[in-house]
Order: sequence, then C-alpha cells, then structure tokens
Amino acid sequence: MKLVLASKNQKKLTEMNDILARLGVEVCSEAEAGVDLEVEETGTTFEANSLLKAKAVMEASGLPAIADDSGLCVECLGGAPGVYSARYGGEGLDDIARYRLLLENMRGQMTRAAKFVSVITCCFPNGDVLTARGECAGTIAYAPMGEGGFGYDPVFFVPELKKTFAQLSAEEKNAVSHRGKALEAFQKKLEEYLK
Ligand code: IMP
Repeated sequence: MKLVLASKNQKKLTEMNDILARLGVEVCSEAEAGVDLEVEETGTTFEANSLLKAKAVMEASGLPAIADDSGLCVECLGGAPGVYSARYGGEGLDDIARYRLLLENMRGQMTRAAKFVSVITCCFPNGDVLTARGECAGTIAYAPMGEGGFGYDPVFFVPELKKTFAQLSAEEKNAVSHRGKALEAFQKKLEEYLK
C-alpha cells in the first residue's frame, strides 16, 4: 500500500518510512505523487492541522494521504510554541535561529518541562479517516547539544536517556519520540483497518 506524505520535510518522510515499512506500507513524497501544495495551517490544534493537510493532499492526489502535525509545547511558556513551532519567531528564521529564540525566551527559567506532540491523520479517498496521537516528555536544555535530527532536537533533553534528541541515532529517537509513538498507534489502527 502506498501513502502520500502531506509534507515537504524529507526527514519526516524518512522517519515515517523507517517505521511503516514493517507493515509493508510505502510512504512517498508529494512530489512523487505529482502534488505541490502549500496548505495553510489555520487550525489551533494539532488534530485540526493534521486533518487539513492530509485531506488536501488526498483530494489533490486521489491517493490515501498521511499527515503529521507536530510541535513542541513548553510548560513555562503556556504551551508555546505548540502548533506554531514551525513558524516560531516568524517565517524568516531557520531551525537554529528558532531554538536560539526559544532558549532566549526561557532565560532564567528553572522550570523547563516540555513535551513534543505528534498527531497523525490518514485520509482515504472513500472518506475514511484514521487518527493517532503520540507525546514525548522531556525538558529544554540550557544549551544545544548534538548534531542529529532537525528542528528543536538539539535543545530537547530526554531525562531517562540523558541525551537530547539530536544526540540519539534515528532508531533511538524513533523508539521514544512523539512521532514514533503516534506512528506505532497509527500502525495498529491501520492494521485493524486493512483487515
Ligand atoms: P509541522 O511540519 O507543521 O508539523 O511543524 C512541526 C514543527 O515542530 C517542525 O518544523 C519543528 O520545528 C517542530 N518539530 C516537530 N517534530 C520535531 C522533532 O521530532 N524534532 C524537532 N522538532 C520537531
């Protein structure tokens, strides 16, 4: 079975394929499906944005489409950047500038609890919709550590592993990450759905 990923993030595509390959599911990019969409994320929840993206790409491609809407929620910032994680600080910033801004906004904060959230939605051309959510709890480090991953990975510290996401291998990250957990839950729902 082939799913189109409603995202232009190559790293998300690799993470999804790594996890869903066990089910015999192939995830292809929008480009491979001949789709080039800029879906406006107008929702205020991960669920709403995930559905917006998956539905738009399913309608444009005519194929089942899967979307992940994810982000980092920081307790002392009232849950920010949350659904605005990709746009934190405005459109002009890159990943490094965004996590530096986050560290700056948390300067002097001793309470550094945070969580990553991922909501996966899969929309089928017949109107069926599957949804799964995953969360990963951690803390925001005082300085970036590690070279791997993307986004806020260098500043997201997992206390049980004593490492940031950027210090983990892809397999280690997938085993504990919000997206890994959401995909695991999604995998179960998809297995049930395909029976
Ligand atoms: P989305 O593509 O709209 O879901 O945006 C998610 C944003 O949240 C990304 O651009 C990253 O900034 C952040 N994010 C989500 N998942 C991760 C992750 O696994 N590591 C680091 N940052 C992430």
